[in-house]
Amino acid sequence: MIIIKDLHKKFGTNAVLKGVSLDIQQGQSLVIIGGSGSGKSVLVKCILGLEQPTSGSITIDAHEMIGASRTARHKINSRIGMLFQHSALFDSLPIWQNVAFRALQTPSLSISDAREIAAEHLIRVGLETSLLDAFPNELSGGSAKRVGLARAIAPDANGTPPDILIFDEPTTGLDALMTEIINDLICECVENLHATTITITHDMRSVRTIADKAALLYRGGIIWQGEQNDLSDVTQDTNPYLYQFMNGLATGPIEVVE
Ligand SMILES: Nc1ncnc2c1ncn2[C@@H]1O[C@H](COP(=O)(O)OP(=O)(O)OP(=O)(O)O)[C@@H](O)[C@H]1O
Ligand SMILES: [Mg+2]
Repeated sequence: MIIIKDLHKKFGTNAVLKGVSLDIQQGQSLVIIGGSGSGKSVLVKCILGLEQPTSGSITIDAHEMIGASRTARHKINSRIGMLFQHSALFDSLPIWQNVAFRALQTPSLSISDAREIAAEHLIRVGLETSLLDAFPNELSGGSAKRVGLARAIAPDANGTPPDILIFDEPTTGLDALMTEIINDLICECVENLHATTITITHDMRSVRTIADKAALLYRGGIIWQGEQNDLSDVTQDTNPYLYQFMNGLATGPIEVVE
């Protein structure tokens, strides 16, 4: 479904992605792990077309996305549900308009139908429908993540849900209980929607709950990728980078990039 080949992205002289290659099958859940500043969000923004890669190839459902026309890009992006790192809700819009944002792109959709979509998806992520008319600045961080998740999975005006989901750090900054709740919600959404999913996280609990496959991004490249089950075989000797990351060790070969 998504094939990334030798992707490079530079900001001025700062080479952030230096030859990333990944292959994500339809219906598969890939989790990308990596330290702060390793380029995870930049990678996702390249997939969405929010950043222009310096070179390489990204094909989604066999369509080359680099250099694609606006129409082709729009067509693919309309199939993608995205939860941004800091939720990125629209501050000036009430919660119902945030959640039903995809459906509201169809101008003929009635307000009551849009509110119904929003209410249904708030309930789906465990929130009260009394929040429909609230604004994002009234929400706690955990509720904002849930609203972001509801927006990511909500359908268009025809009732078609996204078939590609991208979650950038869905649990960062949340307590352990909320982390579990969000991880379980993500699993549920992925199973129900049969979506192809990319999740970015620092959190090994999320990897264990969500991932079919995992990949470690370090210094602009994927230095390990494998099945989730393979993670339990990783030792300090077989892969000191992954071992250090998985165990949250302060010492090891990984250098923190600022
Ligand atoms: N628009 C931009 N202009 C210039 N540099 C950028 C831009 N966006 C990202 N970068 C740089 O790219 C590098 C990777 O950033 P990115 O946000 O992808 O990190 P990350 O892996 O998502 O980190 P975190 O885990 O903290 O979210 C950083 O050095 C950052 O400064
Ligand atoms: Mg990031």
